[in-house]
Amino acid sequence: MDLDELMGVLQKRFKPYGGDTPSFTALPSKGIARKEVITLLTRLQRTEGKRWQRGRVSGAVYHGAPEHVRFATQAYALGSQSNPLHPDVWPSLLKMESEMVAMTGRMLGGSDTTRGAVTSGGTESILLAMKAYRDRARSQRGTQVPEAILPTTAHVAFDKACDYFGLRAVRVPVTSDLTADVEAVKAAINERTAVVVGSAPCFPYGVVDPIRELAGTAKDRGVGFHSDACLGGFLLPWAKRLGHRVPDFDLTVPGVTSLSVDTHKYGYAPKGTSVILYTDPELLRHQYYVAKGWPGGIYFSPTLAGSRPGGLVTAAWATMLALGEEGYLSLAERVLGAAQELRRGIPQVPGLSMMGDSLFVEAFTSSTQDIYQVMEALSSRGWFLNGLQRPPGVHLAVTLRHAARGVTHQFLSDLRWAVDHASDASSAEGLAPIYGLAGTMPEDAVEEFIGSVLDWMYHAS
Ligand SMILES: Cc1ncc(COP(=O)(O)O)c(C=O)c1O
Repeated sequence: MDLDELMGVLQKRFKPYGGDTPSFTALPSKGIARKEVITLLTRLQRTEGKRWQRGRVSGAVYHGAPEHVRFATQAYALGSQSNPLHPDVWPSLLKMESEMVAMTGRMLGGSDTTRGAVTSGGTESILLAMKAYRDRARSQRGTQVPEAILPTTAHVAFDKACDYFGLRAVRVPVTSDLTADVEAVKAAINERTAVVVGSAPCFPYGVVDPIRELAGTAKDRGVGFHSDACLGGFLLPWAKRLGHRVPDFDLTVPGVTSLSVDTHKYGYAPKGTSVILYTDPELLRHQYYVAKGWPGGIYFSPTLAGSRPGGLVTAAWATMLALGEEGYLSLAERVLGAAQELRRGIPQVPGLSMMGDSLFVEAFTSSTQDIYQVMEALSSRGWFLNGLQRPPGVHLAVTLRHAARGVTHQFLSDLRWAVDHASDASSAEGLAPIYGLAGTMPEDAVEEFIGSVLDWMYHAS
């Protein structure tokens, strides 16, 4: 595929609106009637909504039933003008945020000393935890460039955190079952180590690392341990209750000192919230930002942003209250049921095999076909899967959207078709060719290439 063809693929996928869709590269000189704006938005939403509403997208929208969306939107509207930066004006947000921390902490085995904060998403929770470990290592041990030990499958947000905050990321291999290699982690710990990370589960394969062993090692060596339950935190406790085998991962595990858990994934809240939890209040202190002596007044913020969307906090809190334990349990049963159907069906397709033993992330590869061509063929049938690399694979993170009647059956039937038609897949719609291309480019070239794609993506013309 040459550059022109590639740009054609990207154009179709990322900038499909031309023709009858107006574009704006400057403020309209006179405001457009609100009704007209809403009509335009409704049209855009209808086109894109179809993708996820009928369960064709991996992850992304975790609940999405119309009555649930209406409820969350109503709650959002009630808080839309509020801002947690001004707790004096909106003390109700303080109540909601601290209760979200308390409720998630309780769900995940926290104790009276569990503390935390509400953030904008998994990445921010991880960034903040890494900043807290960095500052603790600097102040307690004088380590200027502390190290974070990351199994290769740990989310890339940890690399981002290390990059942003001046920690050194030490990547260690995983074993043949794709979980963190405890011995490799042990060998990597040294006097500069500030934190060891494990996932519950990891994004690529949905497998849970041996958190008990990893956290125990971290504790013995006097370093912190972060359990990344961004993806699984709102599902695994209920999976366990439903009788599934769930490795220990929560705050009850000795040595776990922090945990991230996303309300905007299987917590079923609208996008834009997550919770970061610490077992030791002193560690949370290293997360805070306090400005001393600024002419603008006394300024402090518990998380990264200054002003924050109180509406999203309101909607997340309202979602947690409305679902309660029973709600989360019954939704988990549906998600896990759909996932089991896929897990049984996928390996029956000739040439396909599962990557990792997961409860709700279906990662697979092919021994007979280029898996990216399979992904491409699936995308021509309207499926949006996640491409994996090193080694090549794809995954579908199962949500409630896939638990709707007929969706898993449709996926398996389209998958069989896609495997049969993989070699002649050339829909020029999907992103599969980019995975193939990126896999063959040197890392620096990938960075340069993606940089220019980003320039193009976010430039309106
Ligand atoms: C295990 C894990 N950690 C962290 C993240 C980052 O979450 P976010 O995209 O909300 O920043 C994800 C996202 O999928 C994840 O799966």
